[in-house]
Amino acid sequence: MFKVLISDAMSNVAQKIFEKQKISVDVKIGLSEEEIIKIIPEYDGMVVRSATKVTKNIILAAKKLKVIARAGAGVDNIDVSTAKKSNMLVMNTPGGNTNATAEHALALIMSALRKIPYANDTTHKGKWEKKNIKGNELSKKTLGIIGFGNVGARLSNLVKGFGVNILVSSKSLESRKKDFPHVNNASFDELISTSDIISFHCKAAPDGKPLISKEHYKKMKPTAIIINTARGNIVDENDLNAALNENLIAGAALDVYSKEPAKENILFNNPKAILTPHVAASTAEASIVVAEMAANQISDFLLRGTKINIV
Ligand code: MLT
Repeated sequence: MFKVLISDAMSNVAQKIFEKQKISVDVKIGLSEEEIIKIIPEYDGMVVRSATKVTKNIILAAKKLKVIARAGAGVDNIDVSTAKKSNMLVMNTPGGNTNATAEHALALIMSALRKIPYANDTTHKGKWEKKNIKGNELSKKTLGIIGFGNVGARLSNLVKGFGVNILVSSKSLESRKKDFPHVNNASFDELISTSDIISFHCKAAPDGKPLISKEHYKKMKPTAIIINTARGNIVDENDLNAALNENLIAGAALDVYSKEPAKENILFNNPKAILTPHVAASTAEASIVVAEMAANQISDFLLRGTKINIV
């Protein structure tokens, strides 16, 4: 009988799928690297979200492990190259949380434009800041989307009704242009210098270097807003903080950070930054879909050899 370890909190639908397929499953959440190293030799498969760091040491200790599934899109918490060298498959669940993430990006855009966090905070405190809170409309603005995979494309579809001008910086757009007549391809420089809102939906650079730094902010509109729901190291947080303080741009709304969990960060308490704790994909709906996809993919591979969504 195959045995699978679920090491991060996720919908219990995953556990039920394994049980139905007669695959033995253990749910052990919050284990340290050392604790996982001790137990991992028993398992044929492993399901993680983002909290478990599947390190080289864990992979090398995993003598029976054949497959690791990430219930989510990004696999930056898994040492994929060591897994590949050890003949292990790494899978993700692309599309499972696309809509959730795109909706959160839109929520951050609207929160920044309409100053919702500030309005909420001050109203709760009994201050009536009506005169100080004047928002901006999304309608007729230029939205720059950097990276046009599932989430970037979904965001472009979500904002169609707002009558925005959408610019996209993505190498893959040209060949898919007929499916997205509502967006225009732009160079990175053109996009950052003409957009009112710049939203990141790309992968981080393989060397971890930020895509955007001080020089880029100088090219942006002083009214521009940066949105990041992709990965924290895409944006240099020190440079972003300086750009906000020096009024090079007007605001930022971030869901991801260079170091997570973000217990301290240079952007904390900057009133121009709206921050959420990496929850863009965390909806009741998406949590079920990604858990379901991960469990089905592992079961299909262990029981039938079917390989789906291999990274
Ligand atoms: C993902 O990579 O799917 C998202 O960042 C969500 C998550 O980390 O769970």
